[in-house]
Amino acid sequence: MTHEHEEQANQSEKEPHHFHHPHILEKTLHHKYVEERERAERHGQEHIFRFWNELSDDEKSKLVEHSLKIDYALISKLYNACVTSKKDEKYNNIDQPDLVSKYPYIPKHSEALKLGEDAIKRNELAILLPAGGQGSRLGFNGPKGLFPCTPISKKSLFQLFSEKILAAQKKYKVKFDVYIMTSEDNNKATIDFFEKNNYFGLEKKQFDFFIQGVLPSVDKAGKVLLKSKHEVFFNPNGTGGIYSGLAESNLLSKMILKETKYISYFNLDNPFMTPVDPLYLGYHIIFNSEISAKSIEKKPGEPIGVIVKNKGRHRIIEYINLTPEDSVKKTPTGELFFKAGNIAIMILNVSYIERMHKLNLIDFSTAALKKVQHINNDGNLILPEKPNAYKFEAFIFDPMPHAEKSFVFEVLREEEFAPIKNAEGEDSPKTAYQMQTDLFKKWLLHAGFSPDVVVKLKHVEISPLFALDKEEFKEKILKDLLQYEKELKDKEEYYFG
Ligand code: UTP
Repeated sequence: MTHEHEEQANQSEKEPHHFHHPHILEKTLHHKYVEERERAERHGQEHIFRFWNELSDDEKSKLVEHSLKIDYALISKLYNACVTSKKDEKYNNIDQPDLVSKYPYIPKHSEALKLGEDAIKRNELAILLPAGGQGSRLGFNGPKGLFPCTPISKKSLFQLFSEKILAAQKKYKVKFDVYIMTSEDNNKATIDFFEKNNYFGLEKKQFDFFIQGVLPSVDKAGKVLLKSKHEVFFNPNGTGGIYSGLAESNLLSKMILKETKYISYFNLDNPFMTPVDPLYLGYHIIFNSEISAKSIEKKPGEPIGVIVKNKGRHRIIEYINLTPEDSVKKTPTGELFFKAGNIAIMILNVSYIERMHKLNLIDFSTAALKKVQHINNDGNLILPEKPNAYKFEAFIFDPMPHAEKSFVFEVLREEEFAPIKNAEGEDSPKTAYQMQTDLFKKWLLHAGFSPDVVVKLKHVEISPLFALDKEEFKEKILKDLLQYEKELKDKEEYYFG
């Protein structure tokens, strides 16, 4: 979502920088400092150079480098749009979205499934994983994709992701392009992990990693915060960063060149992720949708966004932006009226990404008030007790109202959404392991295992390489059912791998 004036500003204010000879380095550095300081001053941000005279040459270079990354005009605009003159974002005149439910089965599903499978076989689908988040709530040291997410084998989120793709490749006899958005902080560790594990059976050449953009965090008065005397505090620009990230890394051009039409997108931290879902894709195609979203039934008070219809178009609004009346509004049968909970599982057309990245970032960004450790004007490290800073970010689904057509697919929470967000409690590894076991037990029952055997199991795990869904599982088990039952008898846990 780079916008034209930002690009113009970048062109006029930024140039490539190569430091070679030490004298040139000195001169260039000073010259750059003067330029950057002036640029910052024009937007009231010159304080970031407050400690300049105390810095070593390396530190000075770093600070100049950080300043060069900042579009100061954009930060002023973002602060103004998202904080100072923030409009009341409560939405009125909203209605329920138009949606199709996965259950119960309707005959149209067969048509959709066929369309989706055909598009997959024509290699029109690629996979895009946002893995640039900071995972601050989980508090895991390293990229979140390395986190053990399955109940028995404890495979990492990245391994599970890759195995699901590998299994789909075997099924459809294609190879998927895989795009992974990382951040400056975790890009190397992410690539190293895939390298070390030989891309979990996929081929290295299927993967493209790109680093998402960053924005400086600002204090309540809109001043850019310093992480240290020579470093600005940056935060990733949100999942909305995929639009500019793909365009700027030329990967959007690659998609266009390869005639990729559809992108399957989902959060990394959901072990129920389905990188390849032909039924969902089929409906996306039937409805001529540009961007589709899956929904689950939101529980009252659950802090997830809802998909609604507003002025004839679908949009996703944060639960806090519902009016108090709308957030508790019920249907005559007692269900939440706005119950289409967003789980960030989307399909996007490549042509839509192309169109959206040209839109104006500030139309979508929001400012979230967070706790940010920083250096104050006296050079002291401040560990705030209360939220003290705004982080600007945009979400992938923010430009949804710009889609001519969009589609919402209602699915079941117990099959599709087991997020790992927190270290403990709700949406934690423990709840995600349990949800996987519960689902796999249903697969066992569906395949004909006797309830006596199933009920005794504390943990069950079915590798995607064993079966991708319950029908595949049933088929695979069928002739050896008795053998398996014998093996499972009196076991507390079982891994189908
Ligand atoms: P979350 O919004 O849950 O954020 O990300 P997070 O960073 O994982 O966790 P917290 O909020 O710090 O605890 C949902 C998905 O979007 C990705 C994450 O990697 C995850 O797959 N994401 C989030 C990005 O790729 N970039 C971002 O800037 C933010």
